[in-house]
Amino acid sequence: MSIDFHSCKIEISKAAYKHNIEFLRNTISEGVKISSVVKGNAYGHSIDLFVPLAEENGINHFSVFSADEAYEVQQVSKKKSSIMIMGSVENESLEWAIANDISFYIFDLIRLKQAVLFAKKIGKKAKIHIEVETGMHRTGFDIEKWHEVEDILKNNGDVLVFEGLCTHYAGAEEIANYYRIKQQQQSFKKAIKYFKNNGLHPKLLHSACSAATLRYPKTQGDMVRLGIIQYGFFPTKEVLIHFLEKTKMKEDPLQRLLSWKSKVMDVKQVKTGNFIGYGTSFMAGTDMKIATIPVGYSHGFSRSLSNQGRVLINGQRVPVIGVVNMNMMTVNVTHLEHIEKGDEVVLIGKQGKMEIGVSSFSEYSNQINYEMLTRLRADIPRILVD
Ligand SMILES: Cc1ncc(COP(=O)(O)O)c(C=O)c1O
Repeated sequence: MSIDFHSCKIEISKAAYKHNIEFLRNTISEGVKISSVVKGNAYGHSIDLFVPLAEENGINHFSVFSADEAYEVQQVSKKKSSIMIMGSVENESLEWAIANDISFYIFDLIRLKQAVLFAKKIGKKAKIHIEVETGMHRTGFDIEKWHEVEDILKNNGDVLVFEGLCTHYAGAEEIANYYRIKQQQQSFKKAIKYFKNNGLHPKLLHSACSAATLRYPKTQGDMVRLGIIQYGFFPTKEVLIHFLEKTKMKEDPLQRLLSWKSKVMDVKQVKTGNFIGYGTSFMAGTDMKIATIPVGYSHGFSRSLSNQGRVLINGQRVPVIGVVNMNMMTVNVTHLEHIEKGDEVVLIGKQGKMEIGVSSFSEYSNQINYEMLTRLRADIPRILVD
């Protein structure tokens, strides 16, 4: 018997993912590989559940930020997919990555030299992606360092596999960054030319995230690193509008995978003039009926949604009243005739004809959708639904 201990759950739609992947395959250029970005617990969707689902849909390359995430992907991968670490991997985990055929970014000479040493020590080639600085100014080799990288790659061809040459764009989702992104593309071209002219040929050229893939299709290279879009979200409204204009489509072609649900914990009456919950942020202006929901900011429902957020109950949108607590919140259900303990509450997703989207949710809370999704607590059960 499995006991349901949790006060809320997250459903992940298989059909929505299949739809999005088909859409993406039709949208990106032929022959371009998709790397599914699953950092941040697969943008809140859970690596454990999401990786096998992606593999069922033909994905065999995953990008993560750190070694711990790579380990998680490796544990649940059923098809021995490729795993690429784009950020943190140090010391013991670097040796582990090499031993396990996990590729990783290199953006400084210390890591490059360490990779050579570890690869020699364990007698296994290190699969490396050289990240170059093109204008993001986060990580990446500056142009002055390219010749040293070149020397090390040339002198250690027996222990290094030049798996990729890569960079990342500094905000391809906003037209305000247009000039900077164009400059970055030029700088990346220069890096490609430099390495190739020196006889070093990376297996994969990759630079595009979701926004760059759609807005600057020339950046697609050999592989695109797709995060937010595979989960059903355009990176920004701007990217969506640009895409709709370009394709003459009438509506957002993506489907969200994630729904977040809970149940009504209690229903009670409050007389006019009483304050509801902590402090004085909400006073009942009339006699009211309120419902408590066992979800709060500790689950990822931002406290800034106090007196702002909306949830769905009985197919109707109802407002959050008072302050969102650590583990619960209160909503105004005065106008709902039939409501009782145990009724379904939708925090994100559809109920009847109504829908609460992550975007409205994150607008009220002043979070971007990336942030909102990755703050969904990892121990909320995720369940696959058709
Ligand atoms: C290096 C790198 N590549 C790709 C991505 C995926 O970005 P997106 O979710 O916008 O597709 C990210 C995410 O921030 C990233 O840091």
